[in-house]
Amino acid sequence: MRKGIVTFLLLFSFVLVRSQQKTNPKDIQQKMEWFADAKLGIFIHWGIYAVNGVSESWSFHNGNISWEDYMKQLSGFTASKYDPEAWADLIQLSGARYSVITTKHHDGVALWDSKEKHYDVVDQTPAKRDLLAPFYSALRKRNIKTGAYFSLIDWSHPDYPGFLKEKSRYSISEDYDRWQRFRTFFQNQLKEVSSNYNPDLWWFDGDWEHSAEEWEAQKIRQLLTKKNPNTVINGRLMGWGDYDTPEQHIPVSRPEFNWWELCMTTNDNWGWRPMDKNWKTPYEIITIFVDVISKGGNLLLDIGPKADGTIPDEQAYILKELGAWNKANAAGIFGTRAGMAPGHFYGPSTLSKDSTKLYLFVPGNTTGPLMIKGLANQINGIKVLGSGKALTHKVVGKISWSAVPGIVYIDLPKEAQTPYMSVVELSLDKPIKLYTGKGGFN
Ligand code: GLC
Repeated sequence: MRKGIVTFLLLFSFVLVRSQQKTNPKDIQQKMEWFADAKLGIFIHWGIYAVNGVSESWSFHNGNISWEDYMKQLSGFTASKYDPEAWADLIQLSGARYSVITTKHHDGVALWDSKEKHYDVVDQTPAKRDLLAPFYSALRKRNIKTGAYFSLIDWSHPDYPGFLKEKSRYSISEDYDRWQRFRTFFQNQLKEVSSNYNPDLWWFDGDWEHSAEEWEAQKIRQLLTKKNPNTVINGRLMGWGDYDTPEQHIPVSRPEFNWWELCMTTNDNWGWRPMDKNWKTPYEIITIFVDVISKGGNLLLDIGPKADGTIPDEQAYILKELGAWNKANAAGIFGTRAGMAPGHFYGPSTLSKDSTKLYLFVPGNTTGPLMIKGLANQINGIKVLGSGKALTHKVVGKISWSAVPGIVYIDLPKEAQTPYMSVVELSLDKPIKLYTGKGGFN
């Protein structure tokens, strides 16, 4: 059993890493640069599930509602107050550098005018128009990168094997031609999204239902990168993506992948569900965000607009609060890299790209001095971002004849603190050098 798990983990990491190795490491580094700098993306789950406020696609798959009743929501999806410019304004205000919208969820309903014979909001809902084009153009106007979520799973398609949790249509081994028809269909849809909108990022989902060979994951990657060699592809493509996508849970230790992104909801659901009042507070969102960036990741924070296209107030509030905090503390966030390993400081930190600036994140109303261990640099200056207040520090335990650094204490008086989390910037004499030995002579 244990051996099985180890083999699986080894295989899994091999598959993920394999996709990163296919491209020259320098090229991939270059391609991923904007993504590593971006830190924050806004995820949007918008679909017919918002009409009755049921869970996106899963509600019929899991049998909470019949597929027929679920699809009746098509007639209530109006998008009557949809204002893509206002959406993009709010996203910009949040500080996000990219946004990913559900072009098609597992329910198979496309938000664009698909030429394929299947469900889309143009032909089957009162919205009657392409909802993606104006949103992507509003984002581009504001220099925000565009992302396309695309579900490989399509539980409404007659040629897709899976349907309800308890009832699948057929298995691929029984009818390969039928599976081939589905492949042609979904790959045609991918070509449509790719040629209509040319997204900067692809966010696949649902790869777990089939193997890389069955999806033709490698072919998909080639197809998309042929059109746009710089497009970034998330890790849910059975090993053919560029970055890892943990979901709803902050990895406790720093992930080993170069690039990763935590996707997380603002309450407990991806789409609009009025019964779900479990909103995260701005403080919670900010501390989650900071934890993620201190480990070198991005946060893809989700909102779920209503069927008429309005963004619920609770979600707008979170984005605005986060945005105000991001604006005041931008230097310690955007374009930074992962901070010090745990042990040097009781909390999250980030580093400027050249690592001559160290940012410490201090939650809530922490009083008392901050402590840094093993910092083998001279500190040229310390200030609190936002207020710009200068701070003083003291070094203790430094032995003059030893290279072992002393312990740094920084005073952060109450008046110098900023709302939610204070960010303390240390200007170092040269790129950071951390000492991890046990003391003594060296
Ligand atoms: C899961 C769910 C899906 C949701 C996605 C977002 O994979 O299947 O409903 O869209 O997470 O990360």
